[in-house]
Amino acid sequence: MELPYAEPYKIKTVEKIYRSTREQREKWIREAKYNLFKLKSSQVFIDLLTDSGTGAMSDEQWAEMMRGDESYAGSRSYELLRDTVERITGYPHLIPTHQGRGAENVLFSALVKEGDLIPGNMHFDTTKAHIEFRKGIPVDCTIDEAYDTEHYHPFKGNVDLNKLEKVLKENPREKIPFVILTVTCNTAGGQPVSMENIRQVSGLCRKYGVPLYFDAARFAENAYFIKKRERAYKDKSIKEIVREMFDYGDGMLMSAKKDGLVNIGGFIALRNLETYRKAIVYSIMFEGFITYGGMAGRDMGALAVGLDEATEFDYLESRVEQVHYLGRRLMELDVPVQQPIGGHAIYLDANRFVPTIPREQFRAQALAVELYIVGGVRGVEIGTIMADRDPVTRKNRYPKLELVRLAIPRRVYTDNHMNYVAEVLKQIYDTRHEAKTGYRIVYEPPILRHFTVELEKI
Ligand code: F0G
Repeated sequence: MELPYAEPYKIKTVEKIYRSTREQREKWIREAKYNLFKLKSSQVFIDLLTDSGTGAMSDEQWAEMMRGDESYAGSRSYELLRDTVERITGYPHLIPTHQGRGAENVLFSALVKEGDLIPGNMHFDTTKAHIEFRKGIPVDCTIDEAYDTEHYHPFKGNVDLNKLEKVLKENPREKIPFVILTVTCNTAGGQPVSMENIRQVSGLCRKYGVPLYFDAARFAENAYFIKKRERAYKDKSIKEIVREMFDYGDGMLMSAKKDGLVNIGGFIALRNLETYRKAIVYSIMFEGFITYGGMAGRDMGALAVGLDEATEFDYLESRVEQVHYLGRRLMELDVPVQQPIGGHAIYLDANRFVPTIPREQFRAQALAVELYIVGGVRGVEIGTIMADRDPVTRKNRYPKLELVRLAIPRRVYTDNHMNYVAEVLKQIYDTRHEAKTGYRIVYEPPILRHFTVELEKI
């Protein structure tokens, strides 16, 4: 008889979190100008703002921290990380960076110029910002099914091959420096890309002579879905699947704060020496010397161990299935969530949850604020505020989806915490018809406004 899964670890250290009253939270969020990024962590009970850098490290990772070699050049910890990355991905040339966007900054400085087109599957917001900052144009080629939150598709992160080929065919090769494939696709809801699709995208890239890079922040979770949902991979190990995924590409950008299981760090890993040489010019300028690039030796060591732990099936099963546990609870309560549930987060569908709040009044943000006020749970808006203004017209961009993301940190919360979140959402859902108005912006920066925007209640 088959036994159920359970976390393949036990807990050695715990950290106290504080419960507050509704009155306290109403005051705190008003003082924070209704921007959840401006709250103190002590004002939050369950923090689902992000799964980035918020995970718990293992005893093995802490042990490797102690062994960290802090030499400026040629540190042992760098070698450990480089060898681990090469063993897992097959990419021999490693550039450590302080986090994922540091990797974007370095690689795009070397490769992206004004007017370039960068096709991909719903680029993450920092990726998009780094392309647009250089006056390049991110071209979204995701399958249409990804925009229908009620439609079941096992691989909603997939690229529409017709859309991609159209871009590749209709533009000169020198205008397309690379294609970027985000695994899993965060903006689509943590949705995976199938191995078949990766193979086909890679085929198109080869046909048109364009390199393929992965935005690999959640590559291990993507591999878990391939194992679970793509029949040919059922009996393969996660490490075998990961290796095949990366075999189809030319390199990767990594925010190690996710599937690296560390609190800070990132890297670029490349197959091609010439591209590596172009990129290290910028890593030395922006990040640090090529054998540490913004990371302490001990952090590189912990990351090397984390990459191995994150690519083990038992860990991934408990991680992804906890996210799905919360998703199932919410579906049982009829709370509208994006389906299928992705790898790292639940996405509440604010268009179906609070259609009574006008879109111009940021309905997803209004829902995220309510979740905090009622339960002390912090999520994040992925809707009109995050979509920013069009860089040319400066008009608000209204994305197809208005979501609130509840990202689950790795190895941090228990299923009881998930039950609590579900109960809070149920209460809000039951009174949703009373919500009629949202928020207006009183301050915003020119780019990446969601981090610092200030709002007032209408
Ligand atoms: N790519 C993806 C797919 C991401 O999700 C992120 C970060 C980045 C790149 C940038 O990496 O934060 O290390 O600089 N996502 C975080 C999140 C912020 O909450 O989803 P970073």
